[in-house]
Amino acid sequence: MKKVLAIVLALVMIFSFAACGKKDETKTYKVGVSIYQFDDNFMTLYRNELESYMKSLETDSVKYDITIVDGKNDMATQSEQIDTFITQNVDVIILNLVQTSSAEALVKKVVDAGIPLILINREPAAENMTNNPTVCYVGADARQSGTYQGEIVVGLDNHGDVNGDGTVSYIMIEGDPENTDAQYRTEYSIKALTDAGIKVECLTDQVGNWKQEKGEEITASALAQYGEKIEVVFCNNDAMALGAAAAISAAGRTVGKDIYLLGVDALQECQDMVKAGTMTGTVLNDHVGQSHKAVDAAIKALNGEALDNWYWVDYVKIQ
Ligand code: BGC
Repeated sequence: MKKVLAIVLALVMIFSFAACGKKDETKTYKVGVSIYQFDDNFMTLYRNELESYMKSLETDSVKYDITIVDGKNDMATQSEQIDTFITQNVDVIILNLVQTSSAEALVKKVVDAGIPLILINREPAAENMTNNPTVCYVGADARQSGTYQGEIVVGLDNHGDVNGDGTVSYIMIEGDPENTDAQYRTEYSIKALTDAGIKVECLTDQVGNWKQEKGEEITASALAQYGEKIEVVFCNNDAMALGAAAAISAAGRTVGKDIYLLGVDALQECQDMVKAGTMTGTVLNDHVGQSHKAVDAAIKALNGEALDNWYWVDYVKIQ
């Protein structure tokens, strides 16, 4: 009887050890993600890819409990979301800032809470990052995308000078002007033309805030005002270029024949348009590469490894 009891006890101990061991083996990390605005074509692709890629990296012993919230393009809302993540003690934060001018305050908050921070898509000023191995920015160098847009025009037979008057007359439709992507794309697209010795004239430069309907509205009124004078429409992103394309065809103009249209992002719809000739060119803003790099950095931080401050992903010309 004593023997049987001893065996039973031994078995109970073995099983409970095994059970404990198993429990300890699975670690679930809490991941807080705040996106500047869900209602953004490009950031929607980005956030979906980010979530599915991170989930695909789960193993039997490591799980990611991912919460993604909508900053609703409102800095106060986003700041509260970060406070909530801190209170919830998340293990890492991935942040697509509403305003890069708030980077300093938010970085400080998260660093003080001892939580690693991966900033994405909206490049913060360099001084927010220096020498902090728990904070990084993952993005693409917007200068490159602007240069590529300009180079596509330079590469056209007539260099964008449809009416042959020696000057390329263009309109510029900008994203949020607070955003370096908008600033650099606006500057570098035109710089590529002037660097190639091409004379340019800006007919109008307006803010479309990355939105399709604004792209359409701005292009429609510019076409009504300047008509055939407009030879090139530069848009800081594809969403606005889609709007511009609608306005261009409504005005009876034909892309590739009497006007040129450029965007950035390479949304599938725009890649199809480039192939069909209804858009002159776009630039791949690699949401897959960027979201994967952001997740890889987050996992590095979760493993206690030091982060570089900057991780870059290349743009690719689509023409
Ligand atoms: C994209 C835009 C997007 C913006 C959001 C840019 O990199 O090109 O389409 O609206 O990021 O911050």
